Amino acid sequence: MAGNRIMNIKLFGQEIGRLSAEENEKRSSFQFNPAFLKSNAFQNAFPLTGILKKTTFVQLFSQFEGETFKGIPPQFADSLPDNFGSIIFKAWLDGQAQEKISVLEQLAYVGNRGMGALEYSPMVNLKEKVNIDLDEVIDVLKEVLDLKKASKQKKLDSQALVNIFRIGSSAGGARPKILISEHKKSGKVIPGDLEYSDKYHHYLIKLDIDEEVKYPRELIEYCYSLIIKKTGIRMMDAKLIDDKHFATTRFDRQYGEKQHVLTASGMTGWDYKSAKDSSYENLFKLCSFLKIPHAQTEELFKRMIFNVVYGNTDDHLKNHSFIYDKKADRWELSPAYDITFALNPLLNFTKPKRALSINGKRNKIALKDVLAIAAKYTVKNPEGIIKDIQSQRDELFIHFKRHGVPKLVSKKINENLNKII
Ligand SMILES: Nc1ncnc2c1ncn2[C@@H]1O[C@H](COP(=O)(O)OP(=O)(O)O)[C@@H](O)[C@H]1O
Ligand SMILES: [Mg+2]
Repeated sequence: MAGNRIMNIKLFGQEIGRLSAEENEKRSSFQFNPAFLKSNAFQNAFPLTGILKKTTFVQLFSQFEGETFKGIPPQFADSLPDNFGSIIFKAWLDGQAQEKISVLEQLAYVGNRGMGALEYSPMVNLKEKVNIDLDEVIDVLKEVLDLKKASKQKKLDSQALVNIFRIGSSAGGARPKILISEHKKSGKVIPGDLEYSDKYHHYLIKLDIDEEVKYPRELIEYCYSLIIKKTGIRMMDAKLIDDKHFATTRFDRQYGEKQHVLTASGMTGWDYKSAKDSSYENLFKLCSFLKIPHAQTEELFKRMIFNVVYGNTDDHLKNHSFIYDKKADRWELSPAYDITFALNPLLNFTKPKRALSINGKRNKIALKDVLAIAAKYTVKNPEGIIKDIQSQRDELFIHFKRHGVPKLVSKKINENLNKII
């Protein structure tokens, strides 16, 4: 195997295989644990999307070099810190006076604390559970983000940093966010990295902290979530904290268990930063390949329409995920997330192109473009779906008003919504 360090990977308590990677993040190798393949348990947990093969031979990977997958199979790259997580990671390493660390060392920090259900060992143990104080967390995060912007040499208190590291480095995406668990009875709040029992609510919280031109992004995401739910698109429960932070329950922590989740990018190796494979058609094809229930393919169509109508252009391949039903040994479309007006409309911007193309187009999506997809994937009554989703428009602005979204922001968003004709 390439490299000199090996990570064992577990899923639902079973060792599924071993991963090795070169320090330069160019190549890696993976070998399934023969006992796992032989056991016939969770046979569809790693669908055959052309990456991992069901063989006991060592499999070599050289096609995943680059920022998105860092040389390792995308199913495991999904567990690595993303944009925001990497900023926290860097602050943490600076605090430890450590230089850049390898991708496998990063997975050692993820250990059994990552999103989804994959676990990596040997892992780095971090300090014991402590109570979390949201105001304090935000203060420290502000310092960390300042460090990023101005590279001021501030020394952060190490306990504060360890907390931030534990709760801020795992979840993907670019926005500042933390993971916490709140005891259902006592209300006690602890870091969300280890506990997964159903005695707790497990939240992912997107924090409203770092805008230069003030845009209440998380508040807007919350208003969006209120109308999304009315369209039959499934989302986890969401609430506002202090009228501005967006908290949503985690779908990878449900029924007192970890749920195995992969993003569309992690499932396939399609790079979410590149236009090449970024299309709704690919996402629909993937749904067919994974044999997800037809009702959920129709739901994906609704999500696509929603994103077009409500101007969510940031609908890339890591903003769509699949969740594994381990009893039935099959995949489903995960609840929707990160659906909002993603760009600050107060900054001058030309109308952005959407991340996922529809019928080869990234803007000016017309009825015929979406009908082509509906026909191909036998979505019933597409016009009715479009009408229904468009009819929620007024309600969005009622929510904006009710929650105190500034008039100018509301007006600008209104100007940037679309009609599908
Ligand atoms: N409710 C949720 N349950 C579990 N995982 C989630 C949930 N919401 C988001 N995620 C995961 O966390 C990542 C970051 O969340 P997202 O809302 O996309 O943040 P950002 O706006 O920074 O991209 C997502 O890519 C997804 O993998
Ligand atoms: Mg996202």
